[in-house]
Amino acid sequence: MKRILFIHSSLFGEGSVSTKIARSLIEGIIIENPASEVTRVDLARDSLPHLEADEFNSWLIPADQRDKTQKALASHSDKLIDQLLSHDTLVLAVPMYNLGIPSALKAWIDRVSRAGKTFRYTNEGPVGMVENMQAYLVFARGGIYRDTPLDTQTAYLNSVLGLMGITSVENYFAEGLNMGDEVRETSIAGAMLEVKNRVSGMRPAQGLGVDGDR
Ligand SMILES: Cc1cc2nc3c(=O)[nH]c(=O)nc-3n(C[C@H](O)[C@H](O)[C@H](O)COP(=O)(O)O)c2cc1C
Repeated sequence: MKRILFIHSSLFGEGSVSTKIARSLIEGIIIENPASEVTRVDLARDSLPHLEADEFNSWLIPADQRDKTQKALASHSDKLIDQLLSHDTLVLAVPMYNLGIPSALKAWIDRVSRAGKTFRYTNEGPVGMVENMQAYLVFARGGIYRDTPLDTQTAYLNSVLGLMGITSVENYFAEGLNMGDEVRETSIAGAMLEVKNRVSGMRPAQGLGVDGDR
């Protein structure tokens, strides 16, 4: 049994390629690990504000010394970290926006990647504090960037997860989605096949806990 935290952030809702492929991946994980539980977070609908100074500074105050406002501000990050740590599998569906990750996803990262909570500074550099977490990243892009300097998404997300100690990461790609129907369909089919090959015993799955599959 896996406890899967599924975070997607596409502006396209049900039309999202990254969300669709990530759902397929999760269905495969569920087939491999019956009775798994999925917590689904839609950052495009329930978006987080950018991290601002007052919220950040609330983290620096010891918990028992925070006033009411500071407690409320610190609780946003505390809750997201507690949520992350209560799962053992992280699936991020990641559209490319303006050559980067969605700002809503960045706002989530800014709250879960937190010194003293998910990593700590040492004389040898930062050390991750998140243990036993498997991550899957599903990227969807209008153009083709994989293995080029413009693919900042993959390096960034793998690095920031690694900073927290999440070093077991698998990356999946659907690219060229805005490069004509043929490229789009081939790319989606390729990514879906890669996902299906990854998970043994994969078969079309319905009603397995990931709602809204198309
Ligand atoms: C606001 C916005 C910005 C985008 N910027 C880029 C970009 O910089 N590079 C790119 O290849 N595609 C870009 N796209 C296209 C998306 O990456 C593409 O539509 C992809 O399918 C989005 O993932 P999704 O289907 O999961 O939403 C952009 C799309 C939107 C809506």
